[in-house]
Amino acid sequence: MTSAGEKVTFTFEGRTLTARRGQSVASALMQSGTTVLTRSFKYRRPRGYTCGYDVCGSCPVTVDGLPGVSACSTPVQGGESVDRERGWPSADRDVMRVSDLMAPLLPAGFQFRLFRSHPRLAHLAEKVMARVAGAGRFPTAEAAAATRTLTSTARPDVLVVGGGLSGCAAALGAASTGASVALVHRGPLGGRALARSGSAAWEGTTTPVAALAARLADEVRAHEAIDVLDGTALSWFETGVVPVVGGDRVVDMWPTQLVVATGSYDVPGLFPGNDKPGVVLADGVSKMLRVDGVVPWRRAVVLTDCERGDVLAAQLREAGVEVVAVVHQDGADGTLPGPRHLTGRIEAARGLKTLRAVDVRVGGRVETFDTDLLCVALRERPADDLALQWRYVSAGSPTSVAGGWSGAPVDEDGLAVVGSAAGWLEDDPEQARAVGEAVGARAAGVAR
Ligand code: FES
Repeated sequence: MTSAGEKVTFTFEGRTLTARRGQSVASALMQSGTTVLTRSFKYRRPRGYTCGYDVCGSCPVTVDGLPGVSACSTPVQGGESVDRERGWPSADRDVMRVSDLMAPLLPAGFQFRLFRSHPRLAHLAEKVMARVAGAGRFPTAEAAAATRTLTSTARPDVLVVGGGLSGCAAALGAASTGASVALVHRGPLGGRALARSGSAAWEGTTTPVAALAARLADEVRAHEAIDVLDGTALSWFETGVVPVVGGDRVVDMWPTQLVVATGSYDVPGLFPGNDKPGVVLADGVSKMLRVDGVVPWRRAVVLTDCERGDVLAAQLREAGVEVVAVVHQDGADGTLPGPRHLTGRIEAARGLKTLRAVDVRVGGRVETFDTDLLCVALRERPADDLALQWRYVSAGSPTSVAGGWSGAPVDEDGLAVVGSAAGWLEDDPEQARAVGEAVGARAAGVAR
């Protein structure tokens, strides 16, 4: 029996690798020098660690015969067998990469146009493409047997979806009134906040956001009235049920009040080569450095349009990565001393298999920076999908959703939205905690 943090071994495509128990599979692979984690379906372009939070779909691997496991969000247990899923003879060198060169000949839906008089041939072409893409593998019999699903029902007074700083605060606020509370969260409680710095972190101050999130997560775990489920809330249906899937369980939740605390998404940059391994979103970078404790990069360029650029540059430098440039695409100027601050935009991310260089357009000229990391630290957008579903179904019309609620927490009968899901970022973490607790307590009051 091993505990979190202990050295363990696992098998990766026949090789034995060493890792810390609990670090993500992706970080363990990158630590061993593996940067290509899969290939894209159609053009077989190399894909690597990008978002870090099971959002982008760039890191599916097969673990012990079970396909489609996100390497970025799956902890190493020790003893497992990990394989990449696409690429022949390997994901590193895939002969089907030639399809990328033929891209102009293979536009989307080309088979229907080419075989429009021969529907059977079109379907045959689809089958061949699915086989070539490597999609649709079945789990092995052992893996399928191990994933048998148990279904149950729960009727909490308050269901909180999202276990970051605001979600934990809302769950604690609701539980403090005596209500029954369920909190659904995928991964370590505390969420993205665990890896974040306050905006002044580059000056060498503490990281209050991460510290507060860790403390609230401990309080939630210790609270008897809060049932924590490691899983994903799939949707909110008009009958009022929220199905939650996690591990070997599906729980049909029938909450009286729903509190959405699903946080925010990183926004990718738009430039050629933005899908290359080595182009990584800001929260993915922070998680790799601060949660997994792995530094797989030597040099970095940071792209930003807000104050996150300086924060990420500081985190990278603190981890020993040389930050060669911070590119401000909004025209603002950075304040972090050290790296070059440029006002411009990314012209292209280059490299045959993984990122090797970044071209930056500054005015009328293009500068090239050799780097193995392009950290994309753009302004985030609220992860408000679940709240939109609720609004859409209960309002009955998409127009009444227009306008949303960005800028302020929503707090009404049936639904509350808190934290960055409401478009409100935790610049002041104590205030985020106070709002979360107040909204949770009110939700509990309405529910009871
Ligand atoms: S889903 Fe794993 S890196 Fe995005």
